[in-house]
Amino acid sequence: MSDTSQAGDMPHSAALFDRSRRVMPSGYTRHMVVAKPHPAYAAKGDGCRITDVDGNSYIDWVNNFASQIHGHNKPEIVDVIRRQVADLMVAILPTEWEVKLAELLCQRIPSLDRVRFTNSGTEANMMAVKAARAFTAKPRIAKMEGGYHGQYDLLEASFQPRPDQWGDASAPRAAAHQAGTPQSLLDEVLILPVNDIATARALLRAHADSLAAVILDPFRLQVGLVEPRHDFLAMLREETARLGILLIFDEVWSLRLGYHGAQGCLGITPDLTSMGKIIGGGLPVGAFGGSAAVMSVFEVEKGDPRVKHSGTFTANPMSMAAGFTAMDLMTEAEFDRLNGLGVRMRDGLERLRVDLGVTGQVQGSGSVSALLLTDKPMGNYRELVACIGDGLLERQGLLQKQLLKEGLLTMRGGYIGSTAMDENDIDATLAGVGRALAKMKTM
Ligand SMILES: Cc1ncc(COP(=O)(O)O)c(C=O)c1O
Repeated sequence: MSDTSQAGDMPHSAALFDRSRRVMPSGYTRHMVVAKPHPAYAAKGDGCRITDVDGNSYIDWVNNFASQIHGHNKPEIVDVIRRQVADLMVAILPTEWEVKLAELLCQRIPSLDRVRFTNSGTEANMMAVKAARAFTAKPRIAKMEGGYHGQYDLLEASFQPRPDQWGDASAPRAAAHQAGTPQSLLDEVLILPVNDIATARALLRAHADSLAAVILDPFRLQVGLVEPRHDFLAMLREETARLGILLIFDEVWSLRLGYHGAQGCLGITPDLTSMGKIIGGGLPVGAFGGSAAVMSVFEVEKGDPRVKHSGTFTANPMSMAAGFTAMDLMTEAEFDRLNGLGVRMRDGLERLRVDLGVTGQVQGSGSVSALLLTDKPMGNYRELVACIGDGLLERQGLLQKQLLKEGLLTMRGGYIGSTAMDENDIDATLAGVGRALAKMKTM
């Protein structure tokens, strides 16, 4: 939950929230925007800035949870959407846009020979799981304790388990994330401890006969807090290949790390990749793909496909046109520039941390950075929970509130950059972060 109470005058947002509470539970339809006493309601985005309905302006460091890699109002994207809305919003016939976006993804992302589209990252992961089951003829899925993959109930298991749900560290239990989750569903999931090579390897070997796939976000679990180590990822690649289990990289978030996705940066190629966010150019989207052999479960030449997949808005030309345009603008040079801004941000945060004597650590990669106000290790989900028990989220929440007063819109003091930013925006942000941290020291 964020705190907008000190952000500035917000009478119009307050009035909208009052109306909202009469028609939506507690006034919300996305829990990630919950704020105290109410959220700021957005009116307009422009480049890297966003203005709320009361005229308060912020540098947008959330970018709709990383989907807006070009920030707001990118002229080329606005133009293509305008043209497409006039030509054809959606129809039963496929369009050239889906072919162009599929070609672009297959050319760039090492694991992709064939790709299919969905409407969200959640749906992409769900379909990747179905493909893996059909291909391997095995039913169960392994995921990391603390891993987030959207809202497909199977993959929600052990996203944020409480310590009383954990079980022994050598055999973590699959814990329900939602009230009412059936035990039979949890039985279909094997939970692995991220970065514990010996335990994860032993669990994979013990359960290989029933496992269709291992899924993980190769960049960071829990929206940025725990990073899988390269040797852990390499072990997963080696073991899954040996045991006849597919490796799925959930790159819904991490595709923004580079021209060839996180898998290109890591030099590790999964069997299946799910995508979303940046590949829609700001409109709803998802995609998943893999080798021609694995993706053959969707082929129709020999009759009914082994996995059936459709969707009213799947590959709608609006998302495909915006997505292709956004991705086409993300040349290798543009990824380098954006990631260079990320380096400038992390260097600046580290300087502030040292100069101001702040207890914490700077983390991040590519265009995503954070100053986490703890010096304790966060190598796995259980260590993260220990930091949270130590007040980490409260400190990050306080930082977010101070940053908002500086006109910086962040999610708990994390910074997700966009190509709409330049070095001046980074320096202005760092100046604001410095003032916010100095203020926090006096509290
Ligand atoms: C790693 C990861 N997987 C899946 C999702 C779900 O994507 P969507 O919100 O488009 O369903 C997200 C969303 O934040 C994510 O970060």
